[in-house]
Amino acid sequence: MSDPVIAQKEPIAIEVEAGKSYWWCACGQSKNQPFCDGSHKGSDFVPMEFKAEKDGKAFFCGCKRTDNSPLCDGTHAKL
Ligand code: FES
Ligand code: FES
Repeated sequence: MSDPVIAQKEPIAIEVEAGKSYWWCACGQSKNQPFCDGSHKGSDFVPMEFKAEKDGKAFFCGCKRTDNSPLCDGTHAKL
């Protein structure tokens, strides 16, 4: 599998709602970061579901290199 595209080298903060599902773009090609817009079609990537446990801000990974996907783990600082 090839590496995902780096959409941006910083997380994207989103206000999420408890119980709601969000589909994180794993391939980096979506024009609607951090979420999937279907651009992964034809690649080996698929979006990852994030189910919010509580209301509040979630920091989604924009660089697509996190080891805690779909959330930022600070890996972007080393890119
Ligand atoms: Fe990137 Fe769907 S557009 S996973
Ligand atoms: Fe990817 Fe922080 S934005 S690890």
